[in-house]
Amino acid sequence: MQTDLKEPSLPTRIPPPKLDYEAEIARLRKDMNAVILAHYYQDDDIQEMADFVGDSLELARKAARTTADVIVFCGVRFMAEGAKLLNPEKLVIIPDLAAGCSLEDSCPPAEFKAFKDAHPDHLVVTYINCSAAVKALSDIIVTSSNAEAIINQLPRDQKIIFVPDQYLGGYLNKKTGRNMLLWKGSCMVHERFSEIELIKLKTRHPEATIIAHPECPGNLLAHAAHIGSTSSLISYTAERPNQSFIILTEPGILHEMKKRSPGSTFYDVPGISSDTSEGACISCNACPYMKLNTMEKIYHAMKNRAPTIELSPDLMIAARKPLERMLEMSKAIGRN
Ligand code: 13P
Ligand code: SF4
Repeated sequence: MQTDLKEPSLPTRIPPPKLDYEAEIARLRKDMNAVILAHYYQDDDIQEMADFVGDSLELARKAARTTADVIVFCGVRFMAEGAKLLNPEKLVIIPDLAAGCSLEDSCPPAEFKAFKDAHPDHLVVTYINCSAAVKALSDIIVTSSNAEAIINQLPRDQKIIFVPDQYLGGYLNKKTGRNMLLWKGSCMVHERFSEIELIKLKTRHPEATIIAHPECPGNLLAHAAHIGSTSSLISYTAERPNQSFIILTEPGILHEMKKRSPGSTFYDVPGISSDTSEGACISCNACPYMKLNTMEKIYHAMKNRAPTIELSPDLMIAARKPLERMLEMSKAIGRN
């Protein structure tokens, strides 16, 4: 006999409402009187939502001038530390404290101090991509935007240590005719670009202009028609509409390049995986530290007012000095 039994109905699971992170971040930004700063290597959605996007120098300048109570820094930790050094009394929030930098890691402060002590007659010119402790051991900080102009202001016979990027240092030695002593650090992203893949790409697209960030090793820089900071690379492409470019830097930069030059074509150069058996790979030229930041993490960090950058007062005083010297010496460069 057939019974008319109904299947027991399962309780319907209502998914939790999806947060509109962009709207929530906008609300928190207003409530907290916060400014959101982002680097060009951040994901597209973060660049679109930020109040200001720039290279390291522009972000440091913006941080130095802000009237906001809270700075939310969407970049890597050394950049957020720079904002804190210039604004000791402000709350500086970073979405993920693990957002380090391989250049910073390649220069442990104790080892660097021993190197510096062995060369007491040298001035220490330090790339901003380093820890606050290394900044505190430095005379002048520079970025890829202002390094050449700042070094050119120093007396010709001044002995100099350049730290921590050996490739940027080598490039600057050539540009300025100096013989700076170089610390052997490097950026894991820029040294991974494959010269063979670059040549293959240029052979397939001979009309494309190669442009590069100076953190690339010299064998790659030798192919470039223009070398400069992220902002300088963007300006170079924006000033040359409807052309093709092969880009030797982190692919996050393509967002602003495409926005400013919709008619141009951009080719991203594959890198070499650290597992060399895998050959060339596209994704290994993305900076793993920059890419730790997400809209979700930014929202939670703003809501919780954490994580924040905390540095001891003594370290802040010592590390701020060479950073302020950089801002002073790069006034002539003009960009904001
Ligand atoms: P820019 O100062 O050119 O933006 O470079 C920062 C950086 O970390 C490059 O890897
Ligand atoms: Fe550091 Fe290189 Fe990432 Fe820039 S791209 S933040 S130098 S690891």
